[in-house]
Amino acid sequence: PLTGPLAGRRAIVTSGPTHEPIDPVRYIANRSSGKQGHAIAAALARAGAEVTLVSGPVTIAPPAGVTVVPVETAREMLAAVEAALPADLAVMAAAVADWRVAAEGAEKIKKAPGSEPAPLHLVENPDILATVSRHPKRPSLVVGFAAETQNLLSNAAAKLARKGCDWIVANDVSPGTGIMGGDRNRVHLVSAAGVEDWPEMSKDEVAARLVQRIAGSFSGSLGG
Ligand code: C5P
Repeated sequence: PLTGPLAGRRAIVTSGPTHEPIDPVRYIANRSSGKQGHAIAAALARAGAEVTLVSGPVTIAPPAGVTVVPVETAREMLAAVEAALPADLAVMAAAVADWRVAAEGAEKIKKAPGSEPAPLHLVENPDILATVSRHPKRPSLVVGFAAETQNLLSNAAAKLARKGCDWIVANDVSPGTGIMGGDRNRVHLVSAAGVEDWPEMSKDEVAARLVQRIAGSFSGSLGG
């Protein structure tokens, strides 16, 4: 049996990017490494939680002691997250692609010499964080991330309301910060109670501190 402050708690974590196919050989993606989400999954497991890590394509190792569900697209990620419910808490750290190509080509798109490239018609992906936050099986604590390059805190506060989650971990991913793909992070924890500015620390330390806060929010409440 697992021990620790989150023993007996079920947690779902999303991590990494999603890949949205254009045709059999091409896809839309982003620069997420999965480092922060994987570190959170590992820290939750160390705190005794039973962790399902739904991960997009990453090159980093799966953390010890968690169940990894590998996915590629946002729609697969949503299905895997819903299949993992019910849970006591969810941390959505994945950098989900906002858009996918409306009709994935069954064959590789060919260039036609002398003619314009075909436009890509994009449609919106499901919002996994918002879906889970309003789900009939909503976990009692839902944490989202906000990676912004401008107006960090006002965007994070707006996101909290729009997504319906409990906390937002906001980080500045402007070029030059080295955060996207790097090992360090500087975040702000935004909740209805206000904004906490955390000092710069490693992504592992951000994970440990977040898990401490999560454990604190569960301590003293028996059923979550
Ligand atoms: O709207 P935005 O992408 O900035 O929101 C970021 C937060 O929402 C992150 O927690 C991310 O994992 C989550 N998200 C999601 N599904 C989407 C888009 C974002 O779960 N389609």
